[in-house]
Amino acid sequence: MIDATVSPTDFEFLRKHVEEHAGIVLGDDKVYLVEARMRPLLPRCGFQSIARLAAELRARPTGELMDMVVEAMTTNETSFFRDMAVFDSLRESVFPQLIKSRAATKQLDIWCAASSSGQEPYSLLMLLRESFPELATWRLRYIASDISTAMLERTRCGVYSQHEVNRGLPARLLTKYFDRHGLEWQVKPELRAALELRKINLVDDWPAMPPLDIVMIRNVLIYFDQQTKRTILQRIKGLLRSDGYLFLGTAESPALLTDSFTRADDAAAYQLSACRQTQP
Ligand SMILES: C[S@@+](CC[C@H](N)C(=O)[O-])C[C@H]1O[C@@H](n2cnc3c(N)ncnc32)[C@H](O)[C@@H]1O
Repeated sequence: MIDATVSPTDFEFLRKHVEEHAGIVLGDDKVYLVEARMRPLLPRCGFQSIARLAAELRARPTGELMDMVVEAMTTNETSFFRDMAVFDSLRESVFPQLIKSRAATKQLDIWCAASSSGQEPYSLLMLLRESFPELATWRLRYIASDISTAMLERTRCGVYSQHEVNRGLPARLLTKYFDRHGLEWQVKPELRAALELRKINLVDDWPAMPPLDIVMIRNVLIYFDQQTKRTILQRIKGLLRSDGYLFLGTAESPALLTDSFTRADDAAAYQLSACRQTQP
């Protein structure tokens, strides 16, 4: 019999570890969430109760079990073409601008951070194939990353249920870019091969990154405290090319955190403030 109730002491211990390891802040009201997320994890890890799991973590606070607990506490909600205004902005203004300004080098570098199970980077790849076929001859580097090994593995496989493809993916793109396998749909190999997948914990050291033209870091900063958000935005500022673009989730804004970024349009696109000031 599994006991998935969490004592106040274990809740404090687990939330401290999750915040230290992944930056995810769990408020006092998140006891139910810890219990709900640990319940399926317990039998997989061979524990009868959260108390046992917490005791093991106290004895060995790093390693695979810690990673599994952190992964279980991440929220992976996503969908194809989530927030359509963002993709309209990419199609109508961001890529036309970048294609013009990068005509000499014919090179674009994009990072989709916290990309969950892959719907976000695959949506962007489909948009590029559909609207900017000329990019086929460009050098496009597209890094997609997440803290979760399971989410990266899902992205690598590119297999989605009918329910998942029903969420935001137009039927025409489904039949064009996916192969049907029984009840599931798999992204075609050519699109899967276009993504460079990396395990990147946003609150840890980042691997060397190229100078970037677009950073999409959507619907993840909401889980972090103010200082962590500020630090991440400053690190992105250091990576973004001077006229590059930053996309946040529609409920996220750098306005209160840093004056380094200025809104570029109504669709949660931002540019470095210094760049916006030099534009007419
Ligand atoms: C709600 S999903 C957002 C997915 C996608 N960006 C979107 O907007 O649809 C949040 C993602 O952030 C990831 N995440 C949480 N903490 C993270 C961290 N410290 N570093 C990197 N990714 C993290 C989770 O694994 C999850 O996949």
